[in-house]
Amino acid sequence: MDKAYAVSKMPFIKEEMREMQEALMVYRAAIKEISTKLDILDYEFKIRRQRNPIEYMKSRVKLPDSIMGKLRRKGLEESIESARRNLNDIAGIRVVCSFVSDIYEIAEMLKNQDDIKLIKEKDYIRNPKPNGYRSLHMVLEIPIFFSDHVEPVRVEVQIRTIAMDFWASLEHKLYYKTGDGNSVHIKNELKECADIITETDMRMQNIQREVEKLN
Ligand code: GTP
Ligand code: MG
Repeated sequence: MDKAYAVSKMPFIKEEMREMQEALMVYRAAIKEISTKLDILDYEFKIRRQRNPIEYMKSRVKLPDSIMGKLRRKGLEESIESARRNLNDIAGIRVVCSFVSDIYEIAEMLKNQDDIKLIKEKDYIRNPKPNGYRSLHMVLEIPIFFSDHVEPVRVEVQIRTIAMDFWASLEHKLYYKTGDGNSVHIKNELKECADIITETDMRMQNIQREVEKLN
């Protein structure tokens, strides 16, 4: 690109960057709101039942490059407005729980809050994916209050156990490295590990119930 032309385009690029930053700020705010709700639920549970159901949480706002890449892959218009309309996972929170029952309790408590609207739910725990993936996915919408307006914002919340998170993280890494060309052998191995993990989660849940009875 010719230098004078590049310089003449700079104000537009700057303006676009500013718009993008402003758009993403809304998602950071939504993550803060929902994370605080989760912290409070975890704290209340701890006071009432002497243990924390949430082991840890991770959150992220999708990077501008990934947002545009996803819109392109889906054949959608590549703009901030289109991202806002079409993507549910610009803001994401992953909640890692101790036991399977904690996942459903946390999910119910969140969904029951008046200011939260459930947009979509996928229960990959009761209906695991064929590869063995398990997690509870929800798209939630929450109003964010700014100085002069209120905006409904969507956040994708994935809730899973430590064991499910362990499997999903490694599976993701393996696929990232090898693409979709993994052999039937590798797929079978991963599925078998997922089944062993499911069994372990169930046994840990039963032990937890026994311990709770003893207390
Ligand atoms: P996309 O975000 O476009 O995939 O839309 P979707 O609504 O069809 O997605 P879905 O709710 O099925 O999955 C959303 C997210 O869950 C993904 O971006 C991953 O983070 C995670 N996920 C889904 N399936 C798998 C899987 O098989 N393995 C792993 N490791 N993660 C998965
Ligand atoms: Mg996604």
